[in-house]
Amino acid sequence: MKIYAAKDYNDMSRKAGNLIAAQVTMKPDGVLGLATGSTPVGAYKELIAKYEAGDLDFSRIRSVNLDEYKGLSGDHDQSYRYFMNHNLFDHVNINKEETNVPGGLAEDPEAECERYNRVIQELGGIDLQLLGIGNNGHIGFNEPCDVFEKGTHVVTLTEETRQSNARFFSSIDEVPTHALTMGIGNIMSARKVLLLASGEGKAKALYESCFGPITPNVPASVLQLHSDVVIIADEAALSLIREKTQWEDSVYDN
Ligand code: F6R
Repeated sequence: MKIYAAKDYNDMSRKAGNLIAAQVTMKPDGVLGLATGSTPVGAYKELIAKYEAGDLDFSRIRSVNLDEYKGLSGDHDQSYRYFMNHNLFDHVNINKEETNVPGGLAEDPEAECERYNRVIQELGGIDLQLLGIGNNGHIGFNEPCDVFEKGTHVVTLTEETRQSNARFFSSIDEVPTHALTMGIGNIMSARKVLLLASGEGKAKALYESCFGPITPNVPASVLQLHSDVVIIADEAALSLIREKTQWEDSVYDN
């Protein structure tokens, strides 16, 4: 696990943008695993700027997103399909037919999860999986629980996650109670993982994920077992790691 320190959100986003851009350049027909939420928005802006400058070509890139709210259509402005179109896909030359997000309105959500696992498999797996992290250590919508779920599955969102995501909805009652998410197995199968974290609210989850026991109670802690994980975190998110490990440098390699 390599941890790179960033000064702040903008610095984190620039570093992440550079890393994802390098991936797209080195494997122009590669498969990107993408995330939603506040954290990656700045990195997506960086990618759009590089595309507009003529430095990036997404025409052969394929993508799979981590998750989608159950019950929201792709047109709903809080759906993750809408988020991806709005924050990235509409602004670069990616072929939208080659972008995948779990279907939030699937009549048979279990069958949709199976289909999504097959999509990932048929794409040949994920080259680079981008992740944010929840305040409770969740990745995708793999919430703290007793087991690591392997494949794509339907989850019940925790109250904490619904509260935290309520900022995007007009009231908490509108936040869906369930989601479809890639499982820990799907994420761990990615050839490279890039986790971004910004803000003090992530400090505890980040510390526990990197230095605590590997447990499904802190889902991101499983990343300690992955052989190629890069974390880019700003100083606020790193605050507890700095305090507990006395690490002062800008790169941590363990
Ligand atoms: C989003 C996702 C979530 C978020 C996490 C952090 O696709 O899977 O795990 O990455 O909830 O959200 P933000 O970035 O809004 O703090």
